[in-house]
Amino acid sequence: MNPKNIRKVVNIINGIPTTDGAGVELVRVIGQSALMELDPFLLLDAFRSDNPDDYIGGFPAHPHRGFETVTYLLNGRMRHKDNTGNEGIIAAGSVQWMTAGKGIIHSEMPEQENGLLEGFQLWINLPKSHKMTSPQYQEYDNDSIPTEDRNNASIKVISGKTSHGTQGPVEQPLTAPLYFDIQLEANTTLTETLPHEHNAFVYVIKGEVTLLDEKNEIVSIKRDQLAILTKGESLTLTANDQSTQFLLIAGKPLNEPIARGGPFVMNTQDEIQQAFSDYQNGQL
Ligand code: FE2
Repeated sequence: MNPKNIRKVVNIINGIPTTDGAGVELVRVIGQSALMELDPFLLLDAFRSDNPDDYIGGFPAHPHRGFETVTYLLNGRMRHKDNTGNEGIIAAGSVQWMTAGKGIIHSEMPEQENGLLEGFQLWINLPKSHKMTSPQYQEYDNDSIPTEDRNNASIKVISGKTSHGTQGPVEQPLTAPLYFDIQLEANTTLTETLPHEHNAFVYVIKGEVTLLDEKNEIVSIKRDQLAILTKGESLTLTANDQSTQFLLIAGKPLNEPIARGGPFVMNTQDEIQQAFSDYQNGQL
């Protein structure tokens, strides 16, 4: 293969412990000073705690406009409720892919008083042409999300398609995202192909993975670290002497201006002001 087609590590980002919602302790990986965005990804938060004080406050009612929020739970349960009457439980292994579009007001609260709560929230941008689309949900429970088993690896496919043809249930042609949750056995290697022009990253949940950097040196990515990858088609990852679990996520960059205002992400500051004023006037 042409070496230009091999994806390498450009940079390693350490997640930053922070608090959001009503006192939820989390690790912010994308959306912090070291990595404000990785187009089209605007934010990645990881939460993992068995101490209820870290999560019990949850995320009471708050608005969104202009992008999608993707909640994927590994452990525990969350209750979701919005201002249009949608309500449901996100259980372990489930994904809720919410296209906020022109606006939604929702709450995301733990549906448990103790035990482990672990998962991720990813924000994916929408292009200017679709920021004001009608809100929409794509929700899949653990049994509806396929897992591809290889000899040494299992790949849970939430969206996109693996090189072996397993297709995830979530559809989003605007950014064509791949969202894979991968487990790799100790001392083994996995090679996977990705669309050449997508921005892509690896985020390690458990153990360590090694990849090559742009100098062809081996770099190791540990829990709570994110590796930004070069463009290319082929990615090779190796587990060391422990098994590992990581997210492999990729999406088509939008290459549009980004204006942020808390829970709103638009193209211009004027549009952010409009979103705040629509929210205050009950017109979200
Ligand atoms: Fe939210």
